[in-house]
Amino acid sequence: MCGIVAYVGPKQAYPILINGLKRLEYRGYDSAGIALLNGSLNVYKSKGRVSDLEDLIHDLNLSGTIGIAHTRWATHGEPNTVNAHPHYSQSKQIALIHNGIIENYALLRQELEARGYVFESSTDTEVLTNLIEDIKLNEEVDLFEAVRIALNQVIGAYAIVVISKDDPNTLIAARKGSPLVIGIGKDDYYVASDATPIIEYTKNVVYLDDEEVALIRRNNDLKIKTIRNHEKTPYVQKLEMNLTALEKGGFEHFMLKEIYEQPNSIKDSMRGRVHSELGTVSLGGIIDYEQKLLTANRIIIVACGTSWHAGLVGEYLFEDLARIPVEVEYASEFRYRNPVIYEQDVVIAISQSGETADTLAAIELAKSKGATILGICNVVGSSIARATHAGSYTHAGPEIGVASTKAFTAQVTLLTIMALRLAQLKGTISKSRFMQILLELESIPDKVAETLKTSHVVTKIAEQFKDVRNFLYLGRGYNFPVALEGALKLKEISYIHAEGYPAAEMKHGPIALIDADMPVVVIATNRGTYDKVVSNIQEVKARKGRVIAIVTQGDTIVKEMADYVIEIPETEEMLVPLLATIPLQKLSYHIAVMRGCNVDQPRNLAKSVTVE
Ligand code: M6R
Repeated sequence: MCGIVAYVGPKQAYPILINGLKRLEYRGYDSAGIALLNGSLNVYKSKGRVSDLEDLIHDLNLSGTIGIAHTRWATHGEPNTVNAHPHYSQSKQIALIHNGIIENYALLRQELEARGYVFESSTDTEVLTNLIEDIKLNEEVDLFEAVRIALNQVIGAYAIVVISKDDPNTLIAARKGSPLVIGIGKDDYYVASDATPIIEYTKNVVYLDDEEVALIRRNNDLKIKTIRNHEKTPYVQKLEMNLTALEKGGFEHFMLKEIYEQPNSIKDSMRGRVHSELGTVSLGGIIDYEQKLLTANRIIIVACGTSWHAGLVGEYLFEDLARIPVEVEYASEFRYRNPVIYEQDVVIAISQSGETADTLAAIELAKSKGATILGICNVVGSSIARATHAGSYTHAGPEIGVASTKAFTAQVTLLTIMALRLAQLKGTISKSRFMQILLELESIPDKVAETLKTSHVVTKIAEQFKDVRNFLYLGRGYNFPVALEGALKLKEISYIHAEGYPAAEMKHGPIALIDADMPVVVIATNRGTYDKVVSNIQEVKARKGRVIAIVTQGDTIVKEMADYVIEIPETEEMLVPLLATIPLQKLSYHIAVMRGCNVDQPRNLAKSVTVE
């Protein structure tokens, strides 16, 4: 949940570290800090954002060719300067940055206090720094060995980088549960929570595996061991990402850029997978598991947040097209409720970041019961991608805005392809119907581009409703997950309370909330249940609620009844989520901007939730 950057090499470290922190700020932004080693080991920290840290220290002499840096999302201890990372050890000889949670920190702290250590912060991280120092001194080992031994005593998750005053050429990095990648330059090394701070310097990277510790020395080869002391050969991979994908490209916010990227990101998710000329679809990453899927008792989808909403669309798709029973589970509930899992089950884990702690834990649980685990991830080489038996990448490109947008539509695209493939193999769909859906899927990027042109209506609606305190979102069938996703987007970036509901459920409770102050967004594009949705709108209007309806172009009935309408192009009902989500993303975006909220980095949130 925090961002880590480190550097050792011939260049000045500060510019690399501060720019790296800016790229990682989406991971946490309540405080930031840097440690530079240049004769002395100096730590600079500040509450707030990376720019606050920069303002605080830019006049100082920040020279040094080795350093570590961190941007924090608080878990233990409030977000203030003292709790910010890096943390010195007691002697100030060692400094450490950490992403994750050390679950047994209280016990370790007590033991260290009994040995005379005094702590400045309330963090679990400072405990680990002093534990390493204690081991280094008492067992008379070098820093690499001290870190390795210390990590054997740690319960929990960590990605750490450690630096020591008495070894100005060395960084020690280690991970368990939280990601860490090492960039290998011509004559230097970079370490980061993800590849975004590294990409402008080198494309050669090594992803550390769980319980691995790396010895990163200036002018020396990279050395990796497990914490149980087994040597590992570093596996160097080539990054495929490019730098422009990480910049705003003229947009005011990453979120807006990512909303507008969707015609292309959806196309990229389909590339090489949708073959209308051959009348088929394919997903290379899971080809060896198709038989397993076809004979599965059921599919269990595990995910969190927006990815869980994509999973719900997946449930409708798999059941509708391939007639395979599906359960969609919040990973956080699934992992703790002793679920019944059979070896014949196939679990599909969906995650943009590929690092979500609850989803990872759900995967491990299902794996331990013998189920087959497939992944749908956006981040290549992420922990979830590696923890699954097989999977497919969404190829949506880096998503920097904390509110997920293009990852959702890419996930839904992939689930559509998967459901179509299974339907074709199972024979649960006729050839002509298959082709009809396939051709329509191919036209979706253009229809998304057309949907994006609705800005004038959406900004008008945003202007009208930006000051309300509550919103209700309603949808049926495939549009129910869209309602949930629309409500989540509004909540997280504009801080307006919003709830998504199946339209017909409104009369079982939420209808009591409706009055002239309550805006109700209704996704009213359904064919099968159109009349029912029209009745739901009437129920809202009868109570003076104000209706914002998403309708299919050419609709006349809902248009007459609703206060505002946003038209989207006609498409197959099962593909509507790919279009109807777009104006809802934009509505939240414009409302958030009008309310002066920090769209890309909403309060209390972080892009990847690597803690419980
Ligand atoms: O990286 P993941 O897809 O696993 O993340 C899951 C959720 O944390 C994420 O979708 C979250 O709900 C977003 N902020 C939604 O915009």
